[in-house]
Parts: sequence; C-alpha cells; structure tokens
Amino acid sequence: MASPLQKVSVLAPAKLNLSLDVVGTLPGGYHALDMVMQAVSLYEQVTLRRSSDLVVRLPGSRVPPGPKNTAYKAALAFFHYTGLLAGVDITIHKTVPVRAGMGGGSADAAAVLVGLNALYGARLSMTELCALGASVGADVPFALMGGTCRVQGLGDLIKALPPCPDCWFTVIMPGYGISTPAAFAAYDQIGSPTHPDCAAQEAAIRAEDLTGLCAAAGNALEVCAGGADTAPLKQALLDQGAKAALMTGSGAAVFGIFEAEDPARRAAEALAAEGRQIFTLRPDRGGARIVKAIR
Ligand code: C5P
Repeated sequence: MASPLQKVSVLAPAKLNLSLDVVGTLPGGYHALDMVMQAVSLYEQVTLRRSSDLVVRLPGSRVPPGPKNTAYKAALAFFHYTGLLAGVDITIHKTVPVRAGMGGGSADAAAVLVGLNALYGARLSMTELCALGASVGADVPFALMGGTCRVQGLGDLIKALPPCPDCWFTVIMPGYGISTPAAFAAYDQIGSPTHPDCAAQEAAIRAEDLTGLCAAAGNALEVCAGGADTAPLKQALLDQGAKAALMTGSGAAVFGIFEAEDPARRAAEALAAEGRQIFTLRPDRGGARIVKAIR
C-alpha cells in the first residue's frame, strides 16, 4: 500500500455572478436566490499538511484565522462528519479580494474540504462535500463544483451548465468592501428595481449565445448594496466596450463582460486608479482542485 499523503496543495477559483436574483425570503432571515455563477481564473492557493492540531495561517492577509474563518469551519465540519481524530495545518495565500462578492472565503472552505478529503483518503463524494460546504457558507457548494452553474435556493440547489461562451472579464474592486448581511438587510428594506431573467441566461449559455447571456445579466442586490462606485464603474466599463457590466454577489466588485482579450485589457488599463484592484480574467471550467500531493 502507498504511504499516506503528508501535504496537498489546492487551487480554488473565485466566482462572478453572471446573474443574481432574490426570489423570496426564507425563515431565519435567509433569502431564496436564483443565480448563474461562473468560476474565474483568479485562485486562492491553499496548502494542507498533516498535523495533530488545527491551525490556519493567512500570511500577508488581515483576514483573522480564528474559529469564524471559513477554512477553520470547513475543517471542523470535515472532522466532525468523518469522525477522524486528526488535525491539519492550513496555509492560505489569499489572492481574491475580501468583501468583493467574488467568493474568496467560500473558495477557502472548498479548498479545505477537497484537500482534507485527499490528505486523509476519506473518499467523500461530491454530494457529501457539498452538504458539508453548505453548512459552512451559502456559496461553498458552488466553489466545490466550479465551472458554470445555475444555483438556486440558499445556494445549495446546483445544476451544472455547459461552459459559458468564450469571453473575458475585467473586474474592478473599488477601495471599499461590502458586508453581505448588510446588503441583504438593505434588500429587505428597499427591495430592488432589477430582477434578471436567470432562466433566459441559462438558455443563452446552452445556446452558446454570449449576446443573450449579456442581455440577461443583472444583479438584484446592486442598488441596495449601496456601493458608491457601482454605477459609475458599470458605465465606465460599458464605455470601454463591455457587452454587459454588473456587480458580482453582494459587491463591492463590478465587472464587464468582453468578447475578446484586447478590449478587456484596454479597459483594465484605462480604469486603473489608486486604491482599486483590477483583474482581467477568463472563465474557469473547474472548482477547487488538488494541484500537488506529497507523500
Ligand atoms: O452563508 P454565508 O455566510 O455566505 O452568508 C452570509 C450572510 O448573507 C448570511 O448571514 C445572510 O445574512 C446573507 N444571506 C442570505 N441569503 C442567502 C445567502 C446569504 O440572506 N441565500
């Protein structure tokens, strides 16, 4: 029998919401959502080493590593479910901006679940990992699945779609973040003028129709999230030739969808400014995955 794994490295993609609609309010203050989510080529890099303790490290990041961290919660959920009497030493190199609506915390949790499953040879199925992930955060099941998905309910009802049509995304993270609970609380107060047609967007993706995908793009949280730069950044992206521009998740990041690389990169250059982070990204067809394993 091969010796056990000592260390695994995991890449977990960020996500963008190609559409996000709020379709109802659920008991407990949560919201029923309808979304199309897309994994993109910006990755959290997570390494997991066997250990007798549970340790989370985030070198260079101000995100706290304690029990509220999604990676910590995911590790606890895994050990609880499997009954393994073990620990893990987790190092997270954060690349995805926080409070951006790009799913960085969910990507970290997904990376830990996938990494622990391999490190300890637990052989949990994707369904089991998604159930564990849903207990950590609403977007973790998507972070495990990746690619292009229609996501409904709390984020737990997931349907994999064919890959989205070839395109480029220019993503702008302004110099502020937005709290997800605050954005949903504001939605409860003021509602939304925007309700994108996620079914139409799914149909456009199935038809490999980027124009139809862009026509159905929209985010019901955009106005209530209250991002001061959201509207001007969207307009600036459209002026730069984006086929659609919208906020992702509960913000604060805003992105444009471009047909080709050149205009996407030109927009990134034109919109660069002090205090902003700008990324030019591509769709990614996967979710959190092992990229290296050491015995
Ligand atoms: O599950 P997660 O921790 O990502 O959610 C963060 C917050 O976003 C929740 O506490 C809740 O306020 C809000 N939320 C919601 N409805 C959802 C997902 C999240 O109201 N479907």
